[in-house]
Amino acid sequence: MSKDPPEEPPQERKRMVRPPTRGQESGGRVKAVRLKTANKRTPSSQAWLARQLNDPFVTEAKLKGYRSRAAFKLIELDDRFHFLRHGQRVVDLGCAPGGWVQIAMARGASSVVGVDLLAVEALPPAHLIQMDFTDPACGERLIELLGGPPDVILSDMAPNTTGHRQTDHLRIVGLIEAAVDFAVETLKPGGAFVTKAFQGGEMEQVLRALKAHFDEVKHVKPKASRAESSEVYLVATGFRGH
Ligand SMILES: C[S@@+](CC[C@H](N)C(=O)[O-])C[C@H]1O[C@@H](n2cnc3c(N)ncnc32)[C@H](O)[C@@H]1O
Repeated sequence: MSKDPPEEPPQERKRMVRPPTRGQESGGRVKAVRLKTANKRTPSSQAWLARQLNDPFVTEAKLKGYRSRAAFKLIELDDRFHFLRHGQRVVDLGCAPGGWVQIAMARGASSVVGVDLLAVEALPPAHLIQMDFTDPACGERLIELLGGPPDVILSDMAPNTTGHRQTDHLRIVGLIEAAVDFAVETLKPGGAFVTKAFQGGEMEQVLRALKAHFDEVKHVKPKASRAESSEVYLVATGFRGH
């Protein structure tokens, strides 16, 4: 099993992802919540739930109506690197439950298309499709829905873990490489690509590919990314063209 805890709850495939209800939190100092009914949960789901209940980003996401705490990662990345602008076409890979889509729209994107293995509750006017991004037909479908070449491609994709550390790492890197290929094939010159990445062996090749096609590539660990996770984000700006 990968030692990195998932950033989002483990979700059953094909189940509709619902946005969290708006929170009843008062916005004041929040006391740590202790679980009283732990007996039917596995230790890992118990730990996950306790962490969620005591996570200030989860609380804040509920207050602001964001579908996930991941929204704060994109906010921080964009506040630092300003890749989201008015009138852009944006693709979001691995978009469920929709936090990044909400932020891309709030920051003025004129067309947003998202894809996920899971169904995502609608967020009009964004087009959200349920499909495997690695399906060879997916890229074309995304561009068709977007209405033209993307200015920005975001990828927060994270595959389910298998339990075998090396296999998990290779699967994650495989997804990142597929996203990089898609970006290099479809982005507008000057465009930006942002991807979740992980520290570790195979990432060197991804970095080399990005540096060959983009003017700047930065590594960032946003505050909302859990310290114990080896997750980082790569922000590549200034796409040089095909
Ligand atoms: C961390 S979540 C994304 C959170 C999202 N950025 C947000 O703000 O709500 C990662 C998502 O990647 C999706 N994913 C993993 N592999 C995928 C694939 N091959 N194609 C499409 N989505 C995939 C998972 O289903 C999961 O919903």
